[in-house]
Amino acid sequence: MKILIHKDDLHTNFGVIKDKDIKKAKNGSKVVSNIKEEFIVLEPSFDDLIKRIKRGPQIMITKDIGYILTNTGITKDSTVLEAGAGSGYLTSFLSIFCKKVISYERNKEFFKLVNENIKFIGLKNIEIKNKDVYKKIDEKELDLIILDLPEPWNAIENAFKALKKGYFLVCYLPTINQVIELLKKNKTFIHVKTVEIIEREWQIDEGKVRPVSSIISHTGFMVFLRKI
Ligand SMILES: C[S@@+](CC[C@H](N)C(=O)[O-])C[C@H]1O[C@@H](n2cnc3c(N)ncnc32)[C@H](O)[C@@H]1O
Repeated sequence: MKILIHKDDLHTNFGVIKDKDIKKAKNGSKVVSNIKEEFIVLEPSFDDLIKRIKRGPQIMITKDIGYILTNTGITKDSTVLEAGAGSGYLTSFLSIFCKKVISYERNKEFFKLVNENIKFIGLKNIEIKNKDVYKKIDEKELDLIILDLPEPWNAIENAFKALKKGYFLVCYLPTINQVIELLKKNKTFIHVKTVEIIEREWQIDEGKVRPVSSIISHTGFMVFLRKI
């Protein structure tokens, strides 16, 4: 059983644990409930926290985030811009892998949501702007731009001006129609590749080793464009 964040005494099927016992417990130490059941207290990791953020618009999922992080040459010294921030899921992963993240979100409600989510996780190197990326990008010499929004071609010239030479713009698009539209309208970047990642988890039980019944079939296409 995994319980994250609590207020007051913790009531579970295995008894009640006193709030003061949890607060004084060290990472990895045990606390005992009123019916003598043992619990282990752990500091929440980034992974524990991000799974608990509030969801607004559809998030980008880790199979796709991992591919972007490993195919764009970014490092802990990189400054990265993304739009829109949405629920802040991608924003948070960029934050732990890069030096600085600038994130544009034009919707006021989601702007507030992403600010709450990054505060909840405790991330500090993120600047969220309540701005429309189609209108303007203030920054220059960026190491990566990621656009997870419906009409990225409206920001393509802004992105070209804002990126360093040799660096990537990645557009994340759910339909191939949008990919075609983007590539038709792109007059400045080199199209490096368009990729879709399929992830299939396996069930590993004794005498029953097989792919799990349900898989995430399609999330989005990633279009890698490079400024040269
Ligand atoms: C699919 S969500 C992004 C989800 C985000 N990548 C995540 O992992 O949580 C798309 C977001 O783009 C925002 N958006 C759409 N057009 C925009 C624009 N022109 N400038 C800034 N944000 C925009 C929307 O308000 C929405 O929050």
